[in-house]
Amino acid sequence: MHQSTIILAIESSCDDTSVAVIKDGKVLSNVIQSQLIHQMHGGVIPESASRLHIKYIVDVTIQALDKAGIEKRQLNAIAYTHSPGLIGSLLVGACFAKGMAQTLEIPLIAVNHIQAHVLSNLIESPKPDFPFLCLTVSGGHTQIVLCKSAYEMEIIGETIDDAAGEAFDKAAKMLGIEYPGGPLIDKYAQEGNANAYKFNKPKVEGLDFSFSGLKTNILYFLREQEKNNPNFIKENLNDICASIQHTITDILIDKLVMAYKQLRIKNVCIAGGVSANSSIRKKIQSSGEKYGWQVFIPKMEYCTDNAAMIAIVAHYKYLVKDFSNLETTVSARTL
Ligand code: KG4
Ligand code: ZN
Repeated sequence: MHQSTIILAIESSCDDTSVAVIKDGKVLSNVIQSQLIHQMHGGVIPESASRLHIKYIVDVTIQALDKAGIEKRQLNAIAYTHSPGLIGSLLVGACFAKGMAQTLEIPLIAVNHIQAHVLSNLIESPKPDFPFLCLTVSGGHTQIVLCKSAYEMEIIGETIDDAAGEAFDKAAKMLGIEYPGGPLIDKYAQEGNANAYKFNKPKVEGLDFSFSGLKTNILYFLREQEKNNPNFIKENLNDICASIQHTITDILIDKLVMAYKQLRIKNVCIAGGVSANSSIRKKIQSSGEKYGWQVFIPKMEYCTDNAAMIAIVAHYKYLVKDFSNLETTVSARTL
């Protein structure tokens, strides 16, 4: 008789406490508790984030089990994010996962957060065939990943400074928009003219990205405009947001097209919080039509940080018995 595999997965790398339950590769629950306190401070405060993970993790775990209709004794493994992320936040999830696995006497599975963003494309059908290209764009990462199988990934391009999400958030801060600014820039941009202002695109070799020059460019542009008109931002917010969003979109998609031209891989995916951006989603679809790509975009709840994506990686790791032990450490950088 076929024995089901049920895994509980924990994600706590930044400011979302999330727990998911997956059965034979099918997500049964994905509970996400966002920590809203960081909005007040204009960015994530690491110390507050770890304390809030401690506060939420038990309740979020109970909710995830309840929603899935699963009891602890039915679990076959516990998975958690071990890197990259905020060290204190990661430690909370890791210690909790280790405690659960040890108490229940079941295997422990350590998962890389970025690999999980990429494989979030395998949570729901239709799924991309291997190999596929994935543009991973989040608050901390900007990468083009060549995904050869669920176990074999190669980063073929990445940012040499800021991440795409940081570019959105830092631009938003200059415009007086609250953190995280990405979603609000997206909202204001809907009413704006994307060609109103021109910002410089970086000249970076190969498939790598850079966003720090754009940040400086935007800062100097705003300072200059405000000299002549102190209300410049207020009066032109929609056009400024649309122009910034247009520039970031072009920087990202230009490199993705370059990767396609080099490798001729037609399955193209996008992952990470910034993939919620409407302009990026539109442009990847239109590029897909132009180049004959099959484009995959995960459901919104699987784009931003969530435990379902940790669970899908754990599902594949369980199949090959890739387990970790209590000595496995967490790391701010990719392990
Ligand atoms: O993947 P994610 O939830 O967390 C990290 O692992 O970083 O990504 C968060 C980032 C933030 O920078 C946020 O501003 C950005 O995703 N973001 C957006 C949008 N929604 C979220 N950026 C642009 N447009 C959006 N609609
Ligand atoms: Zn993330």
